[in-house]
Amino acid sequence: MNRTGGPPYNKVTDEIIEELTTICGKYSVISKDEEKLEPYSHDEVAEHTYFAMPEVVVKPSSAEEISKIMILADREHIPVTPRGAGSGLSGGAIPVFGGIVISFEKMNRILDIDPGNLMITVEPGVITNSINDALKKEGLWFAGYPMSLESCYIGGNVAENAGGGKAIKYGVTSRYITGLQVVLPTGEIIELGGKLRKNVTGYDLIHLLTGSEGTLGIITRITLSLMPLPGFKAALLVLFTTTEDAINVVPRLLSVGKIIPTSIEFMDALSFKTSCSYLNETIDYKEAGAMLLIEIDGKTEEEVSRDYETIGDICEESGALTVYIADNRTTLDRVWNIRKNIAEAFKITSSHQSLEDIVVPTASIPAFMKKLEKISSDYSVQIPCYGHAGDGNLHATPIKPEAWDISTWDKILPSLLGELYQSAAELGGTISGEHGIGSKRNAYIGINLSGDTIELMKRLKYAFDPHGILNPGKIFP
Ligand code: LAC
Ligand code: ZN
Repeated sequence: MNRTGGPPYNKVTDEIIEELTTICGKYSVISKDEEKLEPYSHDEVAEHTYFAMPEVVVKPSSAEEISKIMILADREHIPVTPRGAGSGLSGGAIPVFGGIVISFEKMNRILDIDPGNLMITVEPGVITNSINDALKKEGLWFAGYPMSLESCYIGGNVAENAGGGKAIKYGVTSRYITGLQVVLPTGEIIELGGKLRKNVTGYDLIHLLTGSEGTLGIITRITLSLMPLPGFKAALLVLFTTTEDAINVVPRLLSVGKIIPTSIEFMDALSFKTSCSYLNETIDYKEAGAMLLIEIDGKTEEEVSRDYETIGDICEESGALTVYIADNRTTLDRVWNIRKNIAEAFKITSSHQSLEDIVVPTASIPAFMKKLEKISSDYSVQIPCYGHAGDGNLHATPIKPEAWDISTWDKILPSLLGELYQSAAELGGTISGEHGIGSKRNAYIGINLSGDTIELMKRLKYAFDPHGILNPGKIFP
């Protein structure tokens, strides 16, 4: 039997399924039923080349059960892939070597709301939005959530260090994690941190595990710090002639306006035109070459309207063509819908697209857009680009041309992606700002990380997971 780290792995036998059933109970184990296993073979990555079937899915109810599963998997040399809601965009939850998928659907309890300490403690299978629903009556919220908050699980957010549309003001998931309970690949259960806003006791393993894509440990309990829920918000939808004009505004909002917007979202012409026509949106955008969606929040209505007037003035001084203000639920939904429906709108053209999330220094967005135009014309592939201008994190999304068959697309996409990632790197950027490496980008990690850095990361991986059974095939080539 191979136990020396990594593949080849052993198969899940009937005896192993029996042991898993003894650990979790028969209603918490799925095996030998293709139809029931299939939903666990993919995430939100569209390309079928990344799909892989698990041999067995287990739905444990506690860290103790997970510990027993890990001891069994380590002994039998079976790969284990932890899975949240499957809303990821890098193949992180796909069991590329088969084996066991641990699904968190039964570990979905809010364990403790502690307004006195401004903390909440939850299990990993809680839908992220439910955390904020539960906090509303306390006047508090967890501000570090990603765009998929209505479907994703908080455990997945921690594993991926999810970003989102509010990072410029509120940061990303990691900023709010103060405590974790973790099951190690060898079965030990460890506790890190607590309800502490400061803690420098030993290595900061909390932030090593955060964003480790389920490769170092299995997160079984999370304590998050909370913020006061802002009372009011408004958004401005601002049309510009060029990307340069739009991006020049971003630092000026902070340095001149002294305002930190909640979100500064960017959309290129191809993105917003396609989304607007999909939505039958009637705003006049004909002259526009770029759009910003700027959202602000504050304590009072006066504060928010003062801020959006300042932002409107700065945008106009910087050459904005039109500024639309959305200051109620209906108009806010209307402007956000343009941003949120871009991917959906392109699915009408083609169901094959590669949603990317490169990140560059914010001032380099126009330079990146120029490089992107060249890639698009060299390959004759449409690459709409939109995303989080406040963070330099852009969703360049190559779309399969209608005339191409799938095998042409599968053949050409890797080289197109390589050039796209390289373009970000040349500007001081990286290949992923928020979706992670997973199995989708692992072949390209060398674009950003030196051989020495990758070796160091592998040594860390080995320290946690000496037999390489936890979420193999991710991050590293
Ligand atoms: C977004 C996701 C795709 O920003 O990251 O919409
Ligand atoms: Zn995003």
